[in-house]
Amino acid sequence: MLLSNLYPSLQNKVVFITGGATGIGAVLVEQFVKQGAQVAFVDIAEQEANALVERCTQAHWLAPRFYPCDITNVKALQAVIAQVKQDIGAISVLVNNAGSDERHDYTQVTEEYWDSRMHVNLKHSFFAIQACVEHMKALGGGSIINFGSASWHQRQGGMPGYTSAKAGIEGLSRGMADELGAHRIRINTVVPGWVMTERQMRMWVDKATQQQIENAQCIDDHLQPADIAAMVLFLASDDSRLCTAQKFIVDGGAI
Ligand SMILES: NC(=O)c1ccc[n+]([C@@H]2O[C@H](COP(=O)([O-])OP(=O)(O)OC[C@H]3O[C@@H](n4cnc5c(N)ncnc54)[C@H](O)[C@@H]3O)[C@@H](O)[C@H]2O)c1
Repeated sequence: MLLSNLYPSLQNKVVFITGGATGIGAVLVEQFVKQGAQVAFVDIAEQEANALVERCTQAHWLAPRFYPCDITNVKALQAVIAQVKQDIGAISVLVNNAGSDERHDYTQVTEEYWDSRMHVNLKHSFFAIQACVEHMKALGGGSIINFGSASWHQRQGGMPGYTSAKAGIEGLSRGMADELGAHRIRINTVVPGWVMTERQMRMWVDKATQQQIENAQCIDDHLQPADIAAMVLFLASDDSRLCTAQKFIVDGGAI
């Protein structure tokens, strides 16, 4: 799917994306690169990340920079953010996209497993914000986009560690908006519905689920990563200069 909008304000901006190697994150990397932004991304999927950098290079776009990093290791994440500043400059757009929607039976959840769901779905977003805000203050402003999920709004079961963390993401965005607004830093949550990434199709979406999705949505086209990227680009650009503290739902009307 081709996105038609061009945002001149994104040109040369340093954009930092977590979980950029596959799924929605990979489309975000490509779309920001196409806008002329300087993109840095982290992931644990090194092979996929290197292939993405190669695809961008072959297409003669400004190559994104990949930094291998497990975002659940906060010190490593902070170190990468500092490195990005040294390599390409202060980060003005942060996209907290990385996550894991692993299913789990609540009767079997251990304390360690619960903590791991918080670490991969919530904790890193806060610490990335904390580190990037210093860059944004120096630049006179910035935009932070956190990834929520429509799942808990729809009472989806089978992954309370994920849905709890994703509910927390909305609290994180709203709870920091006022303080950050004083520095012209905007912070919003994008709430995707069920997006047909390669992983979702492989892991969870069968014919019955597809039917369920179509029944839930007002417009029954299947959501693609580019539909989410369109919203993220807008929120990253200066065109959304007075949008902050909000959630932006892209779900075909399912919630
Ligand atoms: N796909 C959907 O239907 C959907 C729906 C609602 C919300 N979301 C949210 O959108 C975001 C992107 O979703 P997606 O479907 O593309 O996810 P995905 O699982 O396909 O991709 C997530 C990326 O994060 C990376 N990642 C996972 N753990 C990591 C770690 N510890 N360190 C570094 N990188 C790590 C993965 O390798 C992957 O590249 C997530 O926050 C997800 O919760 C997705």
